[in-house]
Amino acid sequence: MEGPRSPRETELPQVLDFLNKKLRNEASWSIAAEYPTAFSSNNLHNMRIIADEGHVLSHAVLKPLIIKSPHVIYKVGAIGSVVTEDQHRGQGLSTQVMTDCLKSASEQSCDIAILWTDLFDFYRRMGFELAGSEISFVIEDNFDVPPVNLRFSTDSKVAPDAIYRLYSTHSVNSVRTIEETRKFLAIPQTKVYTAWEPNGQLAAYAIEGKGVDLGGYIHEWGGSVSKLMALFSFIRAQKNQPYTIICPRHAKNLINELRRKPVTVNEGYLGMIKLVNFDQLAAKIKRAFRAEGIADIVLEKHPNHFVFGIGQDLFTINNETDMVRLLFGPVDYRAMDLFKEETIQKLEKILPLAMWIWGWDSI
Ligand SMILES: CC(C)(COP(=O)(O)OP(=O)(O)OC[C@H]1O[C@@H](n2cnc3c(N)ncnc32)[C@H](O)[C@@H]1OP(=O)(O)O)[C@@H](O)C(=O)NCCC(=O)NCCS
Repeated sequence: MEGPRSPRETELPQVLDFLNKKLRNEASWSIAAEYPTAFSSNNLHNMRIIADEGHVLSHAVLKPLIIKSPHVIYKVGAIGSVVTEDQHRGQGLSTQVMTDCLKSASEQSCDIAILWTDLFDFYRRMGFELAGSEISFVIEDNFDVPPVNLRFSTDSKVAPDAIYRLYSTHSVNSVRTIEETRKFLAIPQTKVYTAWEPNGQLAAYAIEGKGVDLGGYIHEWGGSVSKLMALFSFIRAQKNQPYTIICPRHAKNLINELRRKPVTVNEGYLGMIKLVNFDQLAAKIKRAFRAEGIADIVLEKHPNHFVFGIGQDLFTINNETDMVRLLFGPVDYRAMDLFKEETIQKLEKILPLAMWIWGWDSI
């Protein structure tokens, strides 16, 4: 048995074959079509396998993302397609592969790692915790919006640069190219809904589905709130059945509008997050506080605990996973009853950090 190591270019078809058998048995497309930026030959150095006599036994892939937000630019290592051959499970292979992915994430200066799973306890052993916020709205019924002069379309042949232009206006997004946007638009089972101005400019877009995942879920969208609401109303009428819109917590205006409509609201987590380079992230956060005029922010890692607070109003945190929630939420500093009101007001200028990963970036 050898590895964990990156597959050689000549081994990529074999790795994809392994993943397709294990994770996409029912699908008529390759997993590479679903994650075009993760399973490309220029991301081979971020794939990890354990192999034996030419057979892949265990795999995981890392996709580093640069996420821009109003206060902090993060480097995030998204990890996915974690799988071990059935007869070789329980031998520590996935743990080894994951440990190597996390080492690589750390060496590439990622602040955090993130993954999406329902095996919470498996990843908690490795220091991941459910964190960050996601608000989803099930659009139960048709709803009206004030009249708008827009043309709606379900044609998926949309120029990637038009989508990219609206995507770029988000306050929190990953650094992408137009070429990547073109690849994402070609993912199997993708439905594209668009709203167009009379002059032919794209006013809003919404993306549903991503390979075997996210059918019935709008996981990417863009445009002004009023145009998006008109598009969401069109989608409900078009589908003639409920569907779900996924939103970051900081999309406050859109969330306020959606709450007024016939919706069911669910508050969830962005994903499972692990701190990878705490000191680097802490330096970014402290810089963000200083830019707000708060120079006495304390965010320190000691051998067995963290110290967090402002000035003399400090709090000791013993678990790294508690620290993840204090930084990325969900957290209500007021309800915790730990800090003085003055401290809470200062903390809330930056924390919880605005963090979001749009659906096309999840792996
Ligand atoms: C989950 C999976 C990747 C684990 O692979 P593996 O190589 O068997 O994992 P390891 O041997 O490194 O770790 C196994 C350990 O995790 C534990 N574990 C496995 N699945 C678990 C789960 N669902 N919840 C909690 N612990 C779990 C085992 O009990 C074992 O613990 P031990 O070391 O104390 O005995 C593997 O079962 C698999 O391929 N499943 C199908 C694909 C899948 O669901 N992938 C996850 C997608 S996010």
